Amino acid sequence: MKVLIVGSGGREHAIAMSVAKSSRVEKIYCAPGNGGIGQVAECVPIGAMEFEKLADFAEEHNIDFTIIGMDDPLVGGVVDVFEARGLKVFGPRKNAAILEGSKAFSKDLMKKYHIPTAAYEVFDDAKKALEYLESAKMPIVLKADGLALGKGVLICNTLEEAKAGVKEIMEDKKFGDAGKHMVVEEFMTGREVSVLSFVDGKTIKIMSSAQDHKRAGDGDTGLNTGGMGTFSPSPFYTKEVDAFCKEHIYQKTVDAMAAEGRPFCGVIFFGLMLTEEGPKVLEYNARFGDPEAQVVLPRMKNDMIDVMEACVEGTLDTVDLQFEDNAAVCVVLASQGYPVSYEKGKKITGEENFKGKEGYYCFHAGTKQNEAGEIVTNGGRVLGITAKGADLKEARKNAYNATEWISFENKYMRHDIGKAIDEA
Ligand code: AMP
Ligand code: GLY
Repeated sequence: MKVLIVGSGGREHAIAMSVAKSSRVEKIYCAPGNGGIGQVAECVPIGAMEFEKLADFAEEHNIDFTIIGMDDPLVGGVVDVFEARGLKVFGPRKNAAILEGSKAFSKDLMKKYHIPTAAYEVFDDAKKALEYLESAKMPIVLKADGLALGKGVLICNTLEEAKAGVKEIMEDKKFGDAGKHMVVEEFMTGREVSVLSFVDGKTIKIMSSAQDHKRAGDGDTGLNTGGMGTFSPSPFYTKEVDAFCKEHIYQKTVDAMAAEGRPFCGVIFFGLMLTEEGPKVLEYNARFGDPEAQVVLPRMKNDMIDVMEACVEGTLDTVDLQFEDNAAVCVVLASQGYPVSYEKGKKITGEENFKGKEGYYCFHAGTKQNEAGEIVTNGGRVLGITAKGADLKEARKNAYNATEWISFENKYMRHDIGKAIDEA
């Protein structure tokens, strides 16, 4: 079987490594890929938003199965383009990817189907939003409606901050068209958990839980990023939490989408907050998390293609999804200055240290091969260093040891990924 993966991050590298383990797969392509995905797949220079070109490639190369890793093409409708041409593809159609593409849509869906989430209002008019904020309780959360690379969320402690936030999102359009509509949401406190799931339109199967670290600096300080590190499973995702979410969140979401005429096929990522009143949905994503995939997929026992095919064919109920009884930690090596400004083109050395080391992974994100054939930095998040261990503490020790194996100029990482484990 020939497989095409669309995307270029650490998540797609993790997907490619999982797919490569399948005995059914003889060749993997990745568009556009990155400097490291080339080790397991042939990278093709087609952008993730070039839908017709991607479909042309799939036809010309007799691709049997395409996997869309990234949110932008999903929200833009790449799956519909592939399906219209009779090509087998894993991921939600445009009308279902809106679950991630519009925060206003997802909030309205949760309200309509009584899925626990923070109280909210949606505004399309800055003046009305400002009026509302005058009497709102602080802190408060402002969210640009559309996709904004995880950066369209502002937590405002005072009315002044909130007013400035409305200006940023709705008037200055800092997040572009994503700010045409804005969600104003109640501020919640609690631990965050990421739960990824496979969905075939009606059945949902939950993967092992994970926790991300979104802020750039140690101790959860600094700006929000795409994610600086993860661990899996989350010790805070207890049996009770799981039972609550199964009853009130997971299947209800899948059923709600089907009832709306938007059956969801692919991966739903539930961003949950464990509040004192119980788990609530912070956000939905329509894809694997990055860097959640880097700690969840290496622990999955099933053949990835079997599971994804079952999602496309509507037979997920027959799949027994299983994870290893161990743990994994991923520490992101970033370029100093991320997420604001940083240099690129720095030579990366030391990857050979990973060769032959079972349970250690060097997932590439912002990397590329230069003309001299060297792997150099090419983005803010450069590598995701993942290690497994018998338990979370061992996995964390292993992952931090492995971060020492890699060198590049301006290498930056958080030193407290998984610190929460000690409080569990
Ligand atoms: P989102 O992209 O919606 O997941 O938001 C990004 C981050 O902002 C989340 O991971 C939370 O840390 C934080 N956040 C979002 N919504 C809320 C909320 N209602 N209360 C507190 N924190 C929030
Ligand atoms: N790590 C969070 C995300 O993928 O959205």
